[in-house]
Amino acid sequence: MSKNLRALSSRKGIENNLFLKIQKYNIPTDILSEEFLIGESSIIGTRNFYDFLKEDNKEKKVFICNGTSCITSGKQERVKTELRKHFSDNEIGHVSCLGHCHTNAAFLYNEQTYSLDKALEVKDIINNKEYNSNKEYQVYNLASQQILTKKITNKINHYQLIDKFTPHGIVSEVKKSQLQGRGGAGFPFGLKLESCINTKSEQKYIVCNADEGDPGAYSDMYLLEQNPHLVLFGMMAAGKAVGANWGILYIRAEYPNSIISINNEIELLQKENIIGEEFNFKIIKGAGAYICGEETALLNSIEGIRPEVRVRPPFPTQDGLYGKPTILSNVETFANLHWILENGGDSFSKIGSEKSKGTKLISLDGFFKKPGIYEVDMGYPFSNLLKIADGFIEDIKAIQFGGPLGGILPINEIMKINLDFESFSNKGFLFGHASAVCIPKTFPMIEFIKHLFEFTKDESCGKCYPCRLGSARGYELIEGAMNRNETIDNKLLNDLLETMELGSLCALGGGLPLPIRNIIKYFNSELKSYLQ
Ligand SMILES: Cc1cc2nc3c(=O)[nH]c(=O)nc-3n(C[C@H](O)[C@H](O)[C@H](O)COP(=O)(O)O)c2cc1C
Ligand code: SF4
Repeated sequence: MSKNLRALSSRKGIENNLFLKIQKYNIPTDILSEEFLIGESSIIGTRNFYDFLKEDNKEKKVFICNGTSCITSGKQERVKTELRKHFSDNEIGHVSCLGHCHTNAAFLYNEQTYSLDKALEVKDIINNKEYNSNKEYQVYNLASQQILTKKITNKINHYQLIDKFTPHGIVSEVKKSQLQGRGGAGFPFGLKLESCINTKSEQKYIVCNADEGDPGAYSDMYLLEQNPHLVLFGMMAAGKAVGANWGILYIRAEYPNSIISINNEIELLQKENIIGEEFNFKIIKGAGAYICGEETALLNSIEGIRPEVRVRPPFPTQDGLYGKPTILSNVETFANLHWILENGGDSFSKIGSEKSKGTKLISLDGFFKKPGIYEVDMGYPFSNLLKIADGFIEDIKAIQFGGPLGGILPINEIMKINLDFESFSNKGFLFGHASAVCIPKTFPMIEFIKHLFEFTKDESCGKCYPCRLGSARGYELIEGAMNRNETIDNKLLNDLLETMELGSLCALGGGLPLPIRNIIKYFNSELKSYLQ
């Protein structure tokens, strides 16, 4: 069914994009249906999937951040109280993470994200034309080579680097660099390029995954807003390597500033003739769905189909956007390519640890005295980073590292860990996209487990039952224990986690058991009264 829908959507191509049209309420469903020859029910089905397009949210004017870091910060109650002075309850909605984890107290209003600083009133910040959330966090370079935080001083020279390489030359340097994807799974980028090259097709696509939905992470936001030419160059270089002439940036709606700023930069590059017609960029704005960060759901989303996860194989390099071979990679992965081509893949592979090469951006949340984006060599000890970040603002008992599906490291474990893929996986944790969300001593772990189940329940795409049903049943178990004095049957909870882990189609359902098991292992004394 979705193959037929995809074929119909692809008739109009990326320029006349169905998903962007679905987002416009002023285009009636029947008109869209006629234009794309797609049934109205399919269009309504797609529209209803997304937080910002749902009928229930039509009245909402302001959205409070429900991301993990905002929740553990305990600041959102005040945000709600303050917003209620200006908006009715019907006008206040929720959103899963706005990337303001450095400051917290975040909300979205009128396509702009804000943090409600203690000293300010809501009206002060939404009426302040100078408000700029970029100024709220610092960017630090601790790496031996400044790869991702380097400043581009001459745009013309920056982009001309690409002319020095043949497609084969680009692939060769990337392979030598041993660059792994930065979106979470660490897949070798050189292999991805090769697989796409080996799939013959007249049309190929480059897709930049800028759906950074992991609560705690805002490094992609930093790159898009403050270092966009690293990302755009990387997409163009990948395009040259595989023979693609379209670069699509899928940017989440929760990052309105990123969409505006990167769009401005692309227009400037075109106006200044720095980029020509051989490579075209297109921005696709998301509409509020965490699962759209998963690569196959993201492709469905661009196509205007309900963004359910696809079964793999085939992989996007073989059967990607509109069924064509596609390089889909994370923002930060692309951002490495300029340094690799400028300095050589061999130089890149000398930086970092045994199995993780290069540098990495780490996002630190508002519990660190110096929250911000830190560039470190792969393998950098967390304990050193903590010292440089000046420690915590209050007692912390654990850190969730690597997003909502990342492990929960008690403080003694995190102090022993190095920041790279292998150190985390060797200890049974997840490096992921490298964000740190602190859990203060005062925050109950049962509440944290409830939050994880609730997040997965709300964000599940619904394609497979272990995740769709498992997350809802898990939430009920925890909620019953917290609010109705019910006890949680240990065996039942274990069965549930095992079913989700082994039976889920993607890492949303399959990944949730890791942090929950970590909490049960390391914080058992806190949970004793709930478990039997
Ligand atoms: C539930 C879920 C959410 C994901 N969210 C993101 C995301 O926001 N950004 C991202 O780059 N990758 C995300 N991924 C990983 C992508 O599926 C994919 O592996 C990645 O974009 C590939 O790029 P890379 O090779 O550069 O890492 C997510 C995966 C899952 C299962
Ligand atoms: S694990 Fe969850 S999000 Fe992933 S395919 Fe299954 S239902 Fe969808």
